[in-house]
Amino acid sequence: MIENSRKYILVLNGPNLNMLGTREPEIYGSKTLENIKDDMTSHGQGLGYNIDFRQSNSEGELVDWIQQSRAKMAAIIINAGAYTHTSVALLDALQSVEIPIIEVHLSNIFSREKFRHHSYISPVANGVICGFGVNSYILALEAAHDILNV
Ligand code: DQA
Repeated sequence: MIENSRKYILVLNGPNLNMLGTREPEIYGSKTLENIKDDMTSHGQGLGYNIDFRQSNSEGELVDWIQQSRAKMAAIIINAGAYTHTSVALLDALQSVEIPIIEVHLSNIFSREKFRHHSYISPVANGVICGFGVNSYILALEAAHDILNV
């Protein structure tokens, strides 16, 4: 019963994030996406949330999940991976959900190639956290919690 009354936070991960742990560890660290899921789940439980943690390499599937989150999720934390820099479709989907959105990145996208400096998602996000490795996700959860509790 208590479990069901908890708010849900949707954590969305875009393309290639399923490869964390082996993918460019000098940039993204050695933790796997499963490790991040476990950290987020336990931190979320501590703050009183159920974490719905998902990953897809498909832009359309991410759009579907964003659309379905309306009225079901309290907030969205999203690392859209490379779609951050390319996807008007994700922007449009996020624009319509009317719940808090926190954009996260493991790496500091502003210290990397110029094409990573622009995000289609940032204009509809409450805020952006990047550059703190897996801790970016935990900081995003704290930020969502702050927004939901004012
Ligand atoms: C990333 C940064 C993006 O530029 C890149 O395409 C990724 C990961 C990050 O978490 O640092 O896939 O979103």
